[in-house]
Amino acid sequence: MTSDAPGALSAAAAGPAKESASEQRQGEPPPAGHGARGLFLTFEGGEGAGKSTQVARLAATLRAATGREVVTTREPGGTPKAESLRAAVLEGVAKPYGPFAEALIFSAARIDHLDRLIRPALARGAIVLCDRFADSTRAYQGAAGGVDEATLRALERVVVGRTRPDLTLILDLPAETGLARARRRGGEGDRFEAEALGFHERLRTAFAGIARAEPGRCAVIDATPDPDAVAAAIRRAVAARLPGLLPAETSLPDRNRDRDDAA
Ligand SMILES: Nc1ncnc2c1ncn2[C@@H]1O[C@H](COP(=O)(O)OP(=O)(O)OP(=O)(O)O)[C@@H](O)[C@H]1O
Ligand SMILES: [Mg+2]
Repeated sequence: MTSDAPGALSAAAAGPAKESASEQRQGEPPPAGHGARGLFLTFEGGEGAGKSTQVARLAATLRAATGREVVTTREPGGTPKAESLRAAVLEGVAKPYGPFAEALIFSAARIDHLDRLIRPALARGAIVLCDRFADSTRAYQGAAGGVDEATLRALERVVVGRTRPDLTLILDLPAETGLARARRRGGEGDRFEAEALGFHERLRTAFAGIARAEPGRCAVIDATPDPDAVAAAIRRAVAARLPGLLPAETSLPDRNRDRDDAA
């Protein structure tokens, strides 16, 4: 990383796991995981991997199959305050201040998102599908941006607290393929799409490293096949990791089967 960790973050890194200030305010310490009745699923991966496409697909599947409330949201953003921070960061307003400052702004957005949208939805028992979450900070500002890993871990601990995803689907594909998809989608590329190919390759390596480090939480999905095949692989991963939520699918043709079996 390029700057020293503030003392409070160093203390958090060294000390026992703490709940975020907002969780303490709510005064409902969960026994394990986020402790709420709902389910928290996050989608991660590089630019153009198909996260937004697959969040919508899985939401439709879960609504039809479970009848439960399904909330779709995204980071940065998800609430009005966080969306205004999204616009600023993706336009590059924070870029001159460096990746640690960007991590802090993403964290400010995340605090509002967690407090006002994610935790209340989980407390109601909803299934929350979030397009990017804390792993993107680890990958973009950490592995690719150069911010020290321990500092980001401490930041994540105080911001996210115990509201960790039940399942993280990491959509994996070569950086060039994702960037080409994003370019074909049109519109102006954002501050991160504009980074060099090496940056995007480091992101891919970083997400793979997160999946290896936390195999219980993360499932890597081959994002190179067509959207139907990716959606089928995601359904299978959800059925396997969160038993009882979706019926098991055993006869779907797809190119993710080997990877699922290996996971
Ligand atoms: N499996 C796929 N094969 C080919 N094209 C795809 C596939 N999935 C999505 N796309 C297309 O690629 C583009 C990027 O997809 P999408 O917006 O879902 O990716 P994303 O991961 O959300 O991207 P970003 O990181 O920029 O938010 C879209 O135009 C989408 O229609
Ligand atoms: Mg998207």
